[in-house]
Amino acid sequence: MNSKFALVTGASSGIGMEIATYLASKGINILLTARREERLQKLSENLSKEYSVFVDYIACDLSNGNAPNDIYDFCKSKDYQIDILINNAGYGIKTSFHETPMEDEEKFIRVLGTSVIALTKIFLPDMIARKNGKIMIVSSVAAFSPPSSIQALYGPIKTFMNRFSDSININYSQDGITSTALCPGFTVTEFHASSGVQEEMDRVPSFMKFSAQRIAKEGVDAMFAGKGICVPTKTYKFLVFLLKILPSSSLSLFGRKLAPGRYNEK
Ligand SMILES: NC(=O)c1ccc[n+]([C@@H]2O[C@H](COP(=O)([O-])OP(=O)(O)OC[C@H]3O[C@@H](n4cnc5c(N)ncnc54)[C@H](OP(=O)(O)O)[C@@H]3O)[C@@H](O)[C@H]2O)c1
Repeated sequence: MNSKFALVTGASSGIGMEIATYLASKGINILLTARREERLQKLSENLSKEYSVFVDYIACDLSNGNAPNDIYDFCKSKDYQIDILINNAGYGIKTSFHETPMEDEEKFIRVLGTSVIALTKIFLPDMIARKNGKIMIVSSVAAFSPPSSIQALYGPIKTFMNRFSDSININYSQDGITSTALCPGFTVTEFHASSGVQEEMDRVPSFMKFSAQRIAKEGVDAMFAGKGICVPTKTYKFLVFLLKILPSSSLSLFGRKLAPGRYNEK
């Protein structure tokens, strides 16, 4: 068995599952991780059968501070060499900021932020030693948008992740490492149901919703091309262009029209 692997977090559904599938279709061995073990087991069986690659999984909760080290130790014990690190796991918080216990905010920051930094920190030295490594951080168009009245920390943490991805590129490109921030817009996955905003998602016009398969393909292709940022689809490229040039007062108006329910009507 070839010991080169791609590690995909949040691989049990949505964008992560499609990224794992697309990478497997390119003949790359995959290490899947998420909390729902049965799903990981099923996906690993399907991918290895369909694409004749080696697929393994480790179930873990990234809100647990030990999880990144546990994943690294698992790789070392099995002799898996992680050349591609896909930091994708994420979710949204259902309650308003003022109603959310600090413990839940901390877990959220750990899954979408600290674990991304920790996994990158842990796997980077081996990539530097080999002068080869590809990192992807699944961020969001929310990184460029005015804050939503729900999910107060979601956009800010995605902005932070885009900046972190830039830092990796600036500091390690000379070592053969690239980092790609993949910034999707509305994507049809389990994200909205699990984040308690499925009704709002249902009201988003269909021309603004894309499949996880499409987002995964554009993101992985951009990662292999060494692009620092990838905003999939022309629709969202145009939207991000507007977000960068328009004043924030007009942006929240625009947001209310395009994504009703995501903004407080008060
Ligand atoms: N869908 C969108 O419209 C959209 C738009 C922009 C960006 N994104 C970003 O895309 C990424 C993937 O989301 P998705 O849309 O594919 O949603 P999804 O279908 O709900 O998938 C989320 C994945 O994250 C995993 N996950 C959640 N909490 C975790 C935890 N504590 N520990 C380990 N894994 C955890 C889930 O697995 P388990 O539940 O099995 O642990 C699942 O595999 C996220 O970072 C999200 O912010 C999504």
